[in-house]
Amino acid sequence: MLAAPASDTVPFRFEPSAAPVAASERAARLVDPGFGRVFTDHMAVVRWNEAQGWHDAAITARAPLTMDPSSAVLHYAQEIFEGLKAYRLADGGIALFRPEANARRFQDSARRLAMPELPEAIFLSSIRELVRIERDWIPDGDGGALYLRPFMIASEAFLGVKPSAEYLYMVIASSVGAYWKGGARAVSIWVARDYTRAAPGGTGAAKCGGNYAASLVAQAEAIRQGCDQVVFLDAAERRWVEELGGMNVFFVFDDGTLLTPPLTGTILPGITRDSLLTLARARGLTVAEAPYSIEQWRADAASGRLTEAFACGTAAVVTPIGSVVDGTDRFTIGSGATGQLTQSLNDALVAIQRGHAPDPHGWLHPLA
Ligand SMILES: Cc1ncc(COP(=O)(O)O)c(C=O)c1O
Repeated sequence: MLAAPASDTVPFRFEPSAAPVAASERAARLVDPGFGRVFTDHMAVVRWNEAQGWHDAAITARAPLTMDPSSAVLHYAQEIFEGLKAYRLADGGIALFRPEANARRFQDSARRLAMPELPEAIFLSSIRELVRIERDWIPDGDGGALYLRPFMIASEAFLGVKPSAEYLYMVIASSVGAYWKGGARAVSIWVARDYTRAAPGGTGAAKCGGNYAASLVAQAEAIRQGCDQVVFLDAAERRWVEELGGMNVFFVFDDGTLLTPPLTGTILPGITRDSLLTLARARGLTVAEAPYSIEQWRADAASGRLTEAFACGTAAVVTPIGSVVDGTDRFTIGSGATGQLTQSLNDALVAIQRGHAPDPHGWLHPLA
């Protein structure tokens, strides 16, 4: 609907920061960066309008934005984003993990939010250019990576519900450590019965900020209930397990098979989910993408048919699920600790991401 007239590639102008963080200060910040708190010196910016399409691409000093208070994104939440990581490899090189998949998902999200689709080539060069400039911000420590956050906002100044005529695409980068300090422990999950995340025909399969805004009250309730994370059920029948607030979910059974909810439009098509499906199938495991109800989950956990469950996503890779709280009911999965297959799939994926194992699926995108 919003066809961009400009070409698929644009040159990125580089305007170096006049005040980059000193090497000694950067080293101090990288010792224990946590997640999403340490940011690099620069950011990528590309603008879009109807007349020029994608234009004015630059890597500039990271700085606050100046926006008109009537900017469409501030009122109607026309915003999408992505999340991916650049890793330092065992051989000292740097690689992105499946960035083309993020580029395609960003286009899918844009279509759903009536935004212009960023050509894959511009998405990839924005990330490559930024990572090349910020390579010293990749922490060496265990689990360290440069987390990249591409996003697009509706920047036209107007009040009125219609697709914006102007957009700003940006990429910021954050030095991150292991998501779970000291290794992933099994988390507890609270089942949202009164809140849903996405309805059929809604935006559940898009990575738009509004989905996360809508999930926060449920996540806050999960914490109040003494749990780590919330799991959402489908909006129509309120019984089919969909996903966590920011991760997809997998189930492992005593016959060695795996199951994950299908991509029917209400859950995010996770790239980690897809990678784990591929790894599991390559091992000869049977993996079903099929609906799984909360009643079945409870029954299978009780009977022992369900041996493991885990969540997955770019930030934490694989997170074991140890227990589930559903109203006054609480049940444990397996021993309540990290399962064997959960651990081994996590280790296999991390080994590929970090260049410790061969990459038979061509997922690593090395930077020259
Ligand atoms: C709602 C939701 N589901 C699933 C995922 C996992 O997606 P990916 O593996 O691409 O990070 C994420 C994280 O991006 C998410 O926000």
